[in-house]
Amino acid sequence: MSLWLKYTPDFKITMRKPVIAGNWKMYKLLGEAVDTALELKPLVANANHCEVVIAPVFTALKTVAARLDGSNIKVAAQNCASQNEFGAHTGEISPAMLRDAGCSHVIIGHSERRQFYGETDASVNQKSKAALSAGLVAIVCVGEMLAEREVGNAETVVKGQLVKGLDGLTVGDMERIIIAYEPVWAIGTGKTATPEQAQEMHGHIRQTVAGTHGKEIADKTRILYGGSVKPDNIATLMSQPDVDGALVGGASLEAASFAQIVNYERT
Ligand code: PGA
Repeated sequence: MSLWLKYTPDFKITMRKPVIAGNWKMYKLLGEAVDTALELKPLVANANHCEVVIAPVFTALKTVAARLDGSNIKVAAQNCASQNEFGAHTGEISPAMLRDAGCSHVIIGHSERRQFYGETDASVNQKSKAALSAGLVAIVCVGEMLAEREVGNAETVVKGQLVKGLDGLTVGDMERIIIAYEPVWAIGTGKTATPEQAQEMHGHIRQTVAGTHGKEIADKTRILYGGSVKPDNIATLMSQPDVDGALVGGASLEAASFAQIVNYERT
């Protein structure tokens, strides 16, 4: 991984290269996905300050990845099976198959999957291990519900998700884990966590990882913020010392707005 020095407002220097990832969820037919990807390509071609990732639907992955080959945009899937061995698992797609289709990343445990598709910390853990063993980078999502925040449980919930989700991963494995903190109340609602709320939780996440895998790994781990990230709030979020990028839903669907987010330093 190439290193990029991040000068935070208090002049702390970190060596975590930011990641700006677009989660396209269940949007775009194949032709639209290709058009958006190709529109995005020149707009972010000079974005050397961060890694750029887009996550189209499964059926568009191979074509989009092929059309982006040689560019600086990486392709992620939005979910994967919890094993790589072939088998009788109707409807599942293994991480190895995603790699074969041209993906380098996979999003795991997004709150929509936890809320509506029965994803648990245990399945997140299994999927993360399978993704890593197929050579993918896993973007592991955590985040509390509004009710949990309101009763003061946000940190405990996120800590539990991390401890169980990352259980058994080695220090070496952690080099290919990216954590995305997405407070459920901020996803698709237009309510962004304030930069201070994001920083507070990101600091807590880093401490949790220091507890489970050691400080050196914690200092290297990229922690993305997600939840109503837009061109007009990305710069303040990124100015927080522990915010190392963003997982963007709605605002990633249009190439122009996603490019503005990617190029947050210049806007
Ligand atoms: P949003 O979604 O940016 O539309 O809030 C973020 C996500 O769900 O990853």
